[in-house]
Amino acid sequence: IEYNVIVLAAGQGKRMNAGKNKQFIELLDEPLIIHTLKNFIQDSWCQHIYLVINPNEIKQMEELIATYYWQEQITFVHGGSERQESGYKGLLAIDEAKQDMVVMIHDGARPFVSETQLHELARIAKEKQAALLAVPVTDTIKRKANDKIETLDRSTLWAAQTPQAFDYHLIKKAHEKAVESGYLGTDDVSLVEALGEQIEIVRGTYQNVKLTTPEDIMQAEIILERQEE
Ligand code: CTP
Ligand code: MG
Repeated sequence: IEYNVIVLAAGQGKRMNAGKNKQFIELLDEPLIIHTLKNFIQDSWCQHIYLVINPNEIKQMEELIATYYWQEQITFVHGGSERQESGYKGLLAIDEAKQDMVVMIHDGARPFVSETQLHELARIAKEKQAALLAVPVTDTIKRKANDKIETLDRSTLWAAQTPQAFDYHLIKKAHEKAVESGYLGTDDVSLVEALGEQIEIVRGTYQNVKLTTPEDIMQAEIILERQEE
């Protein structure tokens, strides 16, 4: 199953506190974004990568990609100030000839997605129009509103990951609708939820973490070391 992927790398990485966009942090000698891109470069089902970046970092990113000779497989897109806007801009950059393929949207800060998961997700998205990787929540989750605390039923809770994969036209419509109604979500599937469409969960793995805070870096290096053994 052929798919294209939008990789979001236009954030600032504020919570990582690294003094630079976390995409450029080196994990065992290679920048985070390179680890993430490799998963798609190496997957024969992936037709093209749309890499959404901060316009101020275009030169740095272009030079980095050129050192891997990946220019043919990657198109750069200027991102926006919110993750959702960056995703939308990625969608608008996909040319008509590719709009019949599944499109995935993935966090540049999530370097450990496996080919097995990518293929499973692509298959389901092709069949059902919208799907995401997610894992069962392992913590007990409390909801606190005003002074009242309640415990949510954990057996119904999933932690959403990326990639999230869609029929191109459906996710484009969902983004347009969100802009219209002023809705800002923290992932792309939530925009499809707002349309009332059915969404499939593909069970992911706990290894597919997003690197968000400095503590995540050590865990990431441990996973990488294990992979390279
Ligand atoms: N992202 C993006 N455009 C934005 C904001 C985020 O492309 N305007 C991307 C980030 O680069 C990241 C992914 O979306 O790969 C997930 O977002 P997050 O983990 O929140 O990264 P940052 O926004 O960079 O980090 P922070 O929120 O701590 O500043
Ligand atoms: Mg952010």
